[in-house]
Amino acid sequence: MNDVLPAAIGAWQFLEDTMRELLSSYGYEEIRVPIVEQTALFKRAIGEFTDVVEKEMYTFTDQGGESLTLRPEATAGIMRAAISNGMLRGARHKLWCVGPMFRHEKPQKGRYRQFYQVDVEAVGFPGPDVDGELIALTARLWRKLGIERVRLQINSLGTPEARRAYRERLLGYLRGHESRLDADSRRRLEGNPLRILDSKNAEMQEVIAGAPLLTDHLDSESREHFETLCSMLRDVGVEYQINPRLVRGLDYYTRTVFEWTTDALGAQDAVCSGGRYDGLISQLGGESTPGVGFAMGVERAVELIALAQKTPPPAVADVYVVVNGARAASAGVGLVERLREELPHRRFELNLGGGNFKTQFRRADRSGAALALIVGDDELARGVAAMKPLRLETGQSECPLNGLAAGVEAALEAMMGVAGK
Ligand code: HAM
Repeated sequence: MNDVLPAAIGAWQFLEDTMRELLSSYGYEEIRVPIVEQTALFKRAIGEFTDVVEKEMYTFTDQGGESLTLRPEATAGIMRAAISNGMLRGARHKLWCVGPMFRHEKPQKGRYRQFYQVDVEAVGFPGPDVDGELIALTARLWRKLGIERVRLQINSLGTPEARRAYRERLLGYLRGHESRLDADSRRRLEGNPLRILDSKNAEMQEVIAGAPLLTDHLDSESREHFETLCSMLRDVGVEYQINPRLVRGLDYYTRTVFEWTTDALGAQDAVCSGGRYDGLISQLGGESTPGVGFAMGVERAVELIALAQKTPPPAVADVYVVVNGARAASAGVGLVERLREELPHRRFELNLGGGNFKTQFRRADRSGAALALIVGDDELARGVAAMKPLRLETGQSECPLNGLAAGVEAALEAMMGVAGK
């Protein structure tokens, strides 16, 4: 689990701000759901035979004897919220949330036990138009974030019926190669053989490569859905690669699945993944409603932003207020509060905790401020404050206290003019 330190927070905020603005421009509304849910919710939604449910959940029994789990993902909780708040009833919703998820995975670069996701869900739209729009949204996001090294893979998992028929074929094939399956895969043979195709075990890749493909056994409606989606993506100029082995690690998917991967982060290459889950809501006890969505791994996206060097410079003060003398020190707080009131778009840092002139100027320099405002007992007695540019060679000047805000603003603007020339 990671601490996100102030030095890294700029990239996080850039990502969150960009995401918030973009999602709102596509009509998505923010929703906030609990971090803890009943364990049974995740078992039902994600599937008993998935890595997430079998091995990775942080589950505990509370004082009331109830089994609860820290959310490993957000889709299940959002759908639970939509059902329990009566949001469905034929209505359509475009929802998003951001927050921490928890999976007890083996930590490595880009893979953490607490990680953040921006999760986006469109509920009540049968698609494929909404599938296409969601993917176009993600492509636009990369452009806005300046991220280039990502590629899109898509696939269709068909309807549950088509998948059941395919499952039988796959089982036949895998049973024929049972001796070459690893322990995990043998265990999954009965519960969820499709998951075997997701195995990262290098020794299994040959068996997997020979397996029949779900794409060759799709029902006609799913095929049409998928072909329409592909033509929409071509239409909006989003490049994609069809990966017939993309099955995803969660069981609720039907039809469209997709994943944006990168070659820039090592083994943990999925930056943003999702798909359609038309059966999930009814499976959780709600009225049958289609859904589609995705989640982006924030730590991985932040890493890509850093690599693309798009991180904005850290926030710094515009004005550092140096105080000199006992009277000035006690007047400082009030004086700067009034400036903040009058110049709300400017950042002021008041010297706190005393210190001689030299110390205060060193702090002023470190704050990144463009201007030092010097308030001393002498100046106060004369009804003025002194101003000294910190990044330019222009000299010190004075400004009357009764026009201080206007004077500070004029000085900052003049400096920006000089710096820009
Ligand atoms: P997921 O593929 O399990 O899907 O996770 C989505 C993204 O979260 C991944 O692509 C990755 O970027 C990030 N991620 C997953 N695990 C970790 C980890 N341990 N450390 C860091 N980042 C991680 C879901 O969670 C689905 N709920 C997505 C979805 C929404 N499908 C439909 N709607």
